[in-house]
Amino acid sequence: MAEKIFLTGIKPTGEPHLGNFLGAIKPALDLAKNNPNSKKYFFIADQHALTSIKNQHTMHSYRYNIAATWLSFFENIDNCYFYFQSQIPEIFELYWILSCFCPKGLLNRAHAYRALVANNLSNNHDEDRQINQGVFSYPVLMAADILLFQSTHVPVGIDQKQHIEIAIELARHLNHSLSENIPLPQPVINENTELIIGLDGQKMSKNYNNTLPIFLSGKELKKKIGKIQTDSTELGQPLDWENCNVFKIYGYLATDQQRLVLKEKYISGKIGYGHAKNELFQLYEDFFSEYKDRFDFFLNHPKTIDKYISNGYRKASEVAHKNLAKIKTELGF
Ligand code: TRP
Repeated sequence: MAEKIFLTGIKPTGEPHLGNFLGAIKPALDLAKNNPNSKKYFFIADQHALTSIKNQHTMHSYRYNIAATWLSFFENIDNCYFYFQSQIPEIFELYWILSCFCPKGLLNRAHAYRALVANNLSNNHDEDRQINQGVFSYPVLMAADILLFQSTHVPVGIDQKQHIEIAIELARHLNHSLSENIPLPQPVINENTELIIGLDGQKMSKNYNNTLPIFLSGKELKKKIGKIQTDSTELGQPLDWENCNVFKIYGYLATDQQRLVLKEKYISGKIGYGHAKNELFQLYEDFFSEYKDRFDFFLNHPKTIDKYISNGYRKASEVAHKNLAKIKTELGF
């Protein structure tokens, strides 16, 4: 069987939240633990973040924030390589090559771009208003991230599914010009995480300002959990666990047994939402506390982050150089 190569990136545009954890980090973590001998590339997609973040300090702090996130979960797993996308110029060279193999119509059909156009039109603006070329060609850069390392498995959240499909299509186009095929990457998606709800019951997203960051604790976490919207059942009445946002979020992290216990309490009529929120608070803190300690450690020791990154960068850079050289030779450069 061909070698498995795992790769995924996180775009540093804010604090990592529960949706990121369940959609991308947790599936990657399960794969990494089950495949200790395979190569695993985990990177910070900082150039992708440039489509929206144009401020030096914000960029710097989010980049290190995501680097610390990767390390706090994966530090002790063998054969993981961590790097900043912006450190590997080969990615951008392959990005141009792939652009020349990419039908423009494929990008016209990309959901993220189309949503922005639709939004402009519905507000009676010009369709291109505030859409930069980076947003339009975002999927091509992502294909370059993936194909440069000959990745076979790409764990991502469900919202990235179309981007992987585009990467597969571009690999097919490029393969026509190569004697040795680049493997077609396979998305690894947990369909159960299709709809992770946020504090207001809508899909959890930075765009809706309803996220629950994973590295909050104490007072700040309490405050966030306090904002979760619930109905106005009076104390002493049974609570509707099936439609309760607190219960749903609890269920994302709880064991079956814990879920059952809380469900009994909801039905008993003996607890109110304040109590339920407290249970969620406890579960959340326990679940992430070990990781949060490491996260805080890394953020306070950026030199340690740099050490890991320079090691990962060295490995990634070597592979990138070799793979790009092969492609360029075959294209006549
Ligand atoms: N677009 C991804 C996101 O927003 C991040 C990303 C960039 C990525 N390049 C990638 C994910 C390559 C997987 C593979 O979450």
